[in-house]
Amino acid sequence: MDELMAAAREAVEASYAPYSQYYVGAAIETADGTVYTGCNIENANYSNSLHAEEVAIGTAVRDGHREFERLAVSSDSRDGVTPCGMCRQTLAEFCEDSFPIYTDGQEGAEYTLGELLPTTISQSHLDR
Ligand code: THU
Ligand code: ZN
Repeated sequence: MDELMAAAREAVEASYAPYSQYYVGAAIETADGTVYTGCNIENANYSNSLHAEEVAIGTAVRDGHREFERLAVSSDSRDGVTPCGMCRQTLAEFCEDSFPIYTDGQEGAEYTLGELLPTTISQSHLDR
């Protein structure tokens, strides 16, 4: 198994998801090869739960990284979960359309960000 997916699976172990009991882990590799992981962190108000991908990319950006190579996402049920729409948009802030996204599962799958979120708003739309 790819070491990035192994890191995502390990992050599932830290997931705090007492409400959905859907445990997610993500791992993102930066341009210098550093790997950051995240897990979902739910909240009693339900709506402001943090997603695994947000935690992973947020921690990396906090450490000064803004260039990323690839992302892996896993869940405890290994059911091929992909980043949700919000997380895709968060990734699009920093990553090209060609950015690879791996999902876990029996076979596993590979997508690009551009496949999962075509023609979205980006910095270029705000250029004046
Ligand atoms: N979840 C993630 O962590 N990442 C996604 O992109 C999909 C959804 C979490 C949020 C919530 O804690 C649980 O999965 C069920 O939606
Ligand atoms: Zn999400």
